[in-house]
Amino acid sequence: MSIKTCIFDAYGTLFDVAAAARVAAEEPGRDTLRALWPSLAEDWRRKQLEYSWLRAVTGDYVPFWQVTKDGLDWAMENAGLDDPELRERLLALYWELPAYKEVPFVLARLKAKGLHCAILSNGSKDMLDGAVDSAGIGQTLDAVLSVEDVGVFKPARAVYDMVEARFGTDPSEVLFVSSNGWDAAGASAYGFDTVWVNRAKAPQDRLMAAPARVAADLSGIPEMLDA
Ligand code: LAC
Repeated sequence: MSIKTCIFDAYGTLFDVAAAARVAAEEPGRDTLRALWPSLAEDWRRKQLEYSWLRAVTGDYVPFWQVTKDGLDWAMENAGLDDPELRERLLALYWELPAYKEVPFVLARLKAKGLHCAILSNGSKDMLDGAVDSAGIGQTLDAVLSVEDVGVFKPARAVYDMVEARFGTDPSEVLFVSSNGWDAAGASAYGFDTVWVNRAKAPQDRLMAAPARVAADLSGIPEMLDA
């Protein structure tokens, strides 16, 4: 495999998106949230993604931060939560999501192998910078690429084009890593080598193309490149 560049999806792949609701639920005075945070987190994520795809289809782009807020508003209403202070807290926590535990080590190993490493995310640039800073992984990334620069969301091909524009690498020299099955499918169809990080042990999406490989987390990726 002649991979030169490793590209990572952000939310769910490097950063734990469920952490905002989980952390808020542990705070004092949040008894209602403690019982229902898993379903709130799931609804929030699902709506955030649905809104991004629908806006990509209709051409009504707004920054990912807007679909993140809209998704949360839907999820809170669905959960019967009318609590502006909680809403603000959950949104604030989204800017400091923790990285999954293996992430700093894996990125450092890939950098040590001389590979370029970058994020390619639907996230707004400022959201991504916040998460990268709070996870302390900035020094292992050569770029943080946001769809903001092309005004459409993944899996539109224009987003994957950003990798060649930035690094000059042919798609076949790119390993694209995502925990989102639909993103791994889009990236595979585009021509990237891919790893679907199936953290949720979900069935494989029936979409444009199958991922080249599947992993439970990111730990084995440096060895995959040796094979
Ligand atoms: C991203 C979302 C889709 O980071 O996970 O692009």
